[in-house]
Amino acid sequence: MTKIIDALNWRYATKKFDATKKLTDVQLKDLLEALRLTPTSYGLQPYKFIVITDPALREKMKAVSWNQVQITDASHLIAICSMKSMDPTYVDLFIADIAKTRSISTDSLKDYRDMMLGSIAGQTPEGLSDWTKRQSYIALGTLLVAAADMKIDACPMEGFDGSKIDELLGLTTTNFRVASLCPIGFRASDDAMASMKKVRFPLELLVEYK
Ligand SMILES: Cc1cc2nc3c(=O)[nH]c(=O)nc-3n(C[C@H](O)[C@H](O)[C@H](O)COP(=O)(O)O)c2cc1C
Repeated sequence: MTKIIDALNWRYATKKFDATKKLTDVQLKDLLEALRLTPTSYGLQPYKFIVITDPALREKMKAVSWNQVQITDASHLIAICSMKSMDPTYVDLFIADIAKTRSISTDSLKDYRDMMLGSIAGQTPEGLSDWTKRQSYIALGTLLVAAADMKIDACPMEGFDGSKIDELLGLTTTNFRVASLCPIGFRASDDAMASMKKVRFPLELLVEYK
C-alpha cells in the first residue's frame, strides 16, 4: 500500500479537536503552500484563503455554523473563498505573472489571454461564480490530502450560513464569498469518530472501464 493511501485511511473528518494542540508555523506554512500549488482551470486561481485564529471571531462563526465545535477548537480555521466574478484586469494580472515567471513577453500570451477572456465572457454571472466555486473545491481537496500526509487533522465543512460568514469575514462588499471552511489541528483523544470504520463504496460500484 502506498504512503498516500495509508494517509487517506488515517484521516477522517475530525469532529473533536484537541484545543490545546497547535500547528507550528512551519506546518501552517506548508499547508498554505499546498493550497497555493492547487491546479485550476487555465491556472487562474480564482480564490483566496483566509486563516482565522481570532477566538472571538471564531465564536461568532460557530454560531452561524450549526454550533459545530470544530470551528472554535481546531488550531487554525481556513476559509476558502471563491471569486464572485472575474474581469479582464484579473486575467491581465495572471498573464503578467506567467510572463514574469517564465521570462516571456505578454505579447506571446495574447492568444491564451483572448481564449480565457472568451471563455469568461461566454458564461452567465451565475455560471461564472459556480465555476470559480468549483475551482475552490480542488483547493479544499488538496488541503485535505496535504494535511493527511503531514498527520494533521482537518474537517472539510459546508455546514454554515454563507452570507452570515461573508458578513463576519468582511467579504460582503468584496469580489469574494466563502465556499468552504476547513478547521485544521489535532484530533482529541476521545473523538469517537476517529475509530469508526471508513464508509466507502467498493471500486466495482464507482469505476467503469471502457
Ligand atoms: C464539501 C464537504 C462538506 C462537509 N461539511 C461538513 C460539515 O459541515 N460538518 C462536518 O462535521 N463534516 C462535514 N463534512 C465531512 C463529511 O461528512 C465526511 O468527509 C464524510 O462523511 C466522509 O467521512 P471521512 O471524511 O471521515 O472519511 C464535509 C465534507 C465535505 C467534503
